[in-house]
Amino acid sequence: MEPLEHVPWPPEPIKTERLVLREPEARDRTAFIELLASPEANAYVGGPRPRDELQRELPETPERWPGSFVAELDGEMIGQVLLRRATAHRRPSAIGKADLGYLFLPRAWGFGYAAEACAAALGWLDSVLPGEQVVLTTQSANVSSLRLAGKLGFAEVERFEAWGAEQWLGLRVSSPAAR
Ligand SMILES: CC(C)(COP(=O)(O)OP(=O)(O)OC[C@H]1O[C@@H](n2cnc3c(N)ncnc32)[C@H](O)[C@@H]1OP(=O)(O)O)[C@@H](O)C(=O)NCCC(=O)NCCS
Repeated sequence: MEPLEHVPWPPEPIKTERLVLREPEARDRTAFIELLASPEANAYVGGPRPRDELQRELPETPERWPGSFVAELDGEMIGQVLLRRATAHRRPSAIGKADLGYLFLPRAWGFGYAAEACAAALGWLDSVLPGEQVVLTTQSANVSSLRLAGKLGFAEVERFEAWGAEQWLGLRVSSPAAR
């Protein structure tokens, strides 16, 4: 996975009905640690990282690269939305396409924030790379992620085994109705 290339970055903060999407900042460091150390948030994405390791290793300002958004609610980071280039992928059909990922703090689940943030990030992508195809990989057992993928306009391409679990590969070709 690589950052998106040839996109103007950073964009002006993107305002949605309830959220702001923007680049990571130094003040997000604590929320990043909370997010990456959360057993619930990382249950289907490789497991949580030890908090003390994150405290030691995360840079002062969380890494910044084109396509890496923080979602902010009332001035506080509640999650991240990542748009990357799938330069390597287990399934050949995904290679070269844009790839959507999302990770939100459990206390922010169940309010539609992830859907709102992802729709805005995809809208940004449509504006800078019109017609870009977007893929999404998630464990088939990750029910809320699959529901979110559906809402965002992703349709199943295939299921495959990887990383010890069944994975779901979805593709979004046209603009989602959720925007
Ligand atoms: C996947 C994940 C982002 C989904 O979060 P989420 O909050 O369930 O997703 P949404 O933003 O779509 O919110 C949907 C829920 O908000 C509810 N909701 C409440 N108010 C709402 C509103 N104003 N608008 C929309 N939905 C609203 C919906 O009814 C729905 O609830 P339900 O799940 O009980 O049906 C979250 O579970 C997560 O961060 N998981 C860990 C990371 C991960 O597994 N990522 C997958 C790999 S990319």
